[in-house]
Amino acid sequence: MLQPKILPRIENFEKLAYGLFLHYGLYSQLGRGEWVRYFEKIEKQEYSKLLKTFNPQDFDGRKIAKFAKDCGMRYICLTTRHHDGFSLYDTKGLCDFDSIHSPCKRDLVEEFVAGCRAEGIVPFFYHTTLDWYQENFENNFSQYIDYLIASVEILCRNYGTIGGLWFDGNWSKPKADWQEDRLYATIRKYQPEAIIVNNTGLVARGAVGHPEIDSVTYEQGSPELRDQSGREKYIAGEMCQTMNMHWGIGKYDFCYMSPKEIIERLCACRRVGANYLLNVGLTSTGQIPEYESAALLRVGQWLAMHGECLYNARPYAASSNNSDFVLKSPNHLYFFISNLGVIGDINVTSIIHKKYPRAFAGINDKIKCMQWLDNGERLTFTQNNDGLLCFDATGYPYGTNLVVRIAKAEI
Ligand code: GLC
Repeated sequence: MLQPKILPRIENFEKLAYGLFLHYGLYSQLGRGEWVRYFEKIEKQEYSKLLKTFNPQDFDGRKIAKFAKDCGMRYICLTTRHHDGFSLYDTKGLCDFDSIHSPCKRDLVEEFVAGCRAEGIVPFFYHTTLDWYQENFENNFSQYIDYLIASVEILCRNYGTIGGLWFDGNWSKPKADWQEDRLYATIRKYQPEAIIVNNTGLVARGAVGHPEIDSVTYEQGSPELRDQSGREKYIAGEMCQTMNMHWGIGKYDFCYMSPKEIIERLCACRRVGANYLLNVGLTSTGQIPEYESAALLRVGQWLAMHGECLYNARPYAASSNNSDFVLKSPNHLYFFISNLGVIGDINVTSIIHKKYPRAFAGINDKIKCMQWLDNGERLTFTQNNDGLLCFDATGYPYGTNLVVRIAKAEI
């Protein structure tokens, strides 16, 4: 069946590959997640007091963008407004529940975008569609939609070219008339090349909605390889995930992913051509918390060794009998190999094999030579005319363990 042509903006989005999701707002002061108002049934008046104590003294757009770059990330998606209805940007009088009306009087979106530009990071705007602050959300939905679209128009007109808009909340009223045509037309008018995402939520992961949508979401899930054949439009995929169990900072959430798991998840996304948008909940003052910072920088070191294929190479239809997989770029195949041991001896390392034979079926490009990407060590292999490739993956030299090791093959 015919494959749809990929739009340049979607192709560019796929090459961004790995991004930082940032949750920041009034709720960050409480440190019990971004849904705290809802789950603790905090009255609107009571919750609104957080506006007076909001103090983003450590929020530094440039520093955050530099951090993302050091971690090997190419884009950042910031919560410009979350479900509590508070905006990190100047809503120009639409509503006084924004950062301009807090004691800091700052437009954090403006600072964020400037920081991203200075560091070569692509800025994306998360924007809620569900709103616990606006009474019209319950009482006069069409007026609420006017307010939502006017808000998005502000974001599209005042901050230069942005990477895209990431909506979240339509799942809260599945039967409502969200006027998506109007919303997306507003974006296309001012930001024709912006990627448009509308999170389908935890239940409908990977679902395609409106034809203007450029990427589907896999919230906290395992992304799948999308069969694009016969479809009108090629649509990208993106998995967003928390590093612990909350999006907004959770002071008592100890359930964190390790750098090993992050590397594995990133690879699992790229295996199916999806982007990985990994979340950090900023502290009350707007800082990246210590553990997140250390873990992500560690993964950044792994990416510095392996980046050449993580951003640009695409899925390749080969099969193996374990979790290993292959990506392809114009002149190379990249073999992603897991479960290798560290070479040592029985007294220091638990796994002492020197070689780990691996086999792949469906390798229809003729391979000229193969070597590990990290240290250039040559690998011996055999390939037959039926696309069967066998090679001896060697264990990690003592002193290293890369979690996933990549062999680069010239074709
Ligand atoms: C969910 C949550 C929201 C979070 C989002 C991120 O939709 O409602 O709090 O921001 O996921 O993907």
